[in-house]
Amino acid sequence: MTDKIATLNIPGQDSVELPIYSGTLGPDVIDVGALTKRGMFTYDPGFVSTAACESKITFIDGDKGILLHRGYPIDQLATQAEYLEVCYLLLYGELPTQAQKEEFVETIRYHTMVHDQINNLFKGFRRDAHPMAIMCGVVGALSAFYHDSLDINDEKHREIAAFRLIAKIPTLAAMSYKYSIGQPFMYPDNNLDYAENFLHMMFGNPCEDSNINPVIAKAMDKIFTLHADHEQNASTSTVRLAGSTGANPFACIASGIAALWGPSHGGANEAVLSMLEEIGDVSRIDEFVAKAKDKNDPFRLMGFGHRVYKNFDPRAKVMKETADDVLKELGITDDPLLEIAKRLEEIALEDEYFIEKKLYPNVDFYSGIILKAIGIPTSMFTVIFAVGRTVGWVAHWNEMIGDKSRIGRPRQLYTGEPKRDMPAIDKR
Ligand code: CMC
Repeated sequence: MTDKIATLNIPGQDSVELPIYSGTLGPDVIDVGALTKRGMFTYDPGFVSTAACESKITFIDGDKGILLHRGYPIDQLATQAEYLEVCYLLLYGELPTQAQKEEFVETIRYHTMVHDQINNLFKGFRRDAHPMAIMCGVVGALSAFYHDSLDINDEKHREIAAFRLIAKIPTLAAMSYKYSIGQPFMYPDNNLDYAENFLHMMFGNPCEDSNINPVIAKAMDKIFTLHADHEQNASTSTVRLAGSTGANPFACIASGIAALWGPSHGGANEAVLSMLEEIGDVSRIDEFVAKAKDKNDPFRLMGFGHRVYKNFDPRAKVMKETADDVLKELGITDDPLLEIAKRLEEIALEDEYFIEKKLYPNVDFYSGIILKAIGIPTSMFTVIFAVGRTVGWVAHWNEMIGDKSRIGRPRQLYTGEPKRDMPAIDKR
């Protein structure tokens, strides 16, 4: 597999030879497995320099701002393909032919409705529950409904679970919104495409026809595409780790949703809007930029920076263009939050601190602006990220099961108390 070897010198021991592997693209990796035989582990908090798996799905070059799905650049996919074509690509490795596309779209369409008993599950939540809280619960609960697709060792079961997750997640997402505003749940309308159907279930009501603006539907489809996958990010790694135990796909995707919720990850799009609202006026931007630069202040500019991208985020470029299209279509020119966002972007791009630390606006900075313009409430932003990312989670989960990966079980550097005897309660 490799003819390159790294030699590691360990004080007091013979040196260890560690094989080096090369991928198709990207940096070589050193296989450190032999270290355990020497009673040692590697130490890499935050997995900054650890490749935890082999994968053929997505490639990122953060220094050059490159994102490829199965080899295809994200800007080409976002501008030339529909979301469900990208889903097919992520799941099966190749773009669909016309016939394959029609069959796949039809299959997803067939699975859009959820079991009627799921309506009752929603009723157990408070009306003011955060929709991500509902999504964590309801997606996990799908495993209690679809018993016929839970055998993870059966390729057909895995495929049906993938179809169900991709098809039902927009339905559940829209239900979590409808529940919070006290409107009746909308059944999916299978005459509509994926993005249109989501908008119909979000904004439609049973008394009127849904009039879906094609520009907005196209933007929604692009938002899903731009979030479809992103290599071994925190939520995908969570899904892989949960999946490595043999847990069922619905439970694994629920774990991904939970990991996505945090403001350092998918929760950032919601946090961007909250931050813009907190800034409140262009005149206060300098104050917030100063806070972001202050080492003693935990405040960060939400929507800026990325663990991997140290150049621009290629998703952000397409997202910014989409934001322009949506705002033009909706005739939004003088929104005060938008004004703050534009000015903040300009200032951060010129500021020495942000330039030196390579902190560029990321995908979440612009997606929040589009979603707000479309009329999506802030609390639904991360849910929409989850809808788009479901296919990525499923593709990675499937790849991992197919590769017969071992259970994920990291080790640690223990810095707690050494062994000691337990004192009786009156001696503590
Ligand atoms: N505002 C101000 N300073 C920042 C920011 C920011 N948004 N992001 C990073 N820094 C500073 C940080 O303080 C550190 O400074 P120093 O070297 O002086 O200690 C330096 O830049 C490196 O930061 P880090 O925390 O070591 O970087 P990381 O790779 O661990 O974190 C990040 C990446 C995305 C969590 C972080 O940039 C951040 O918190 N950004 C804001 C939240 C956000 O927008 N997240 C969405 C990411 S894109 C969507 C997704 O894929 O989930």
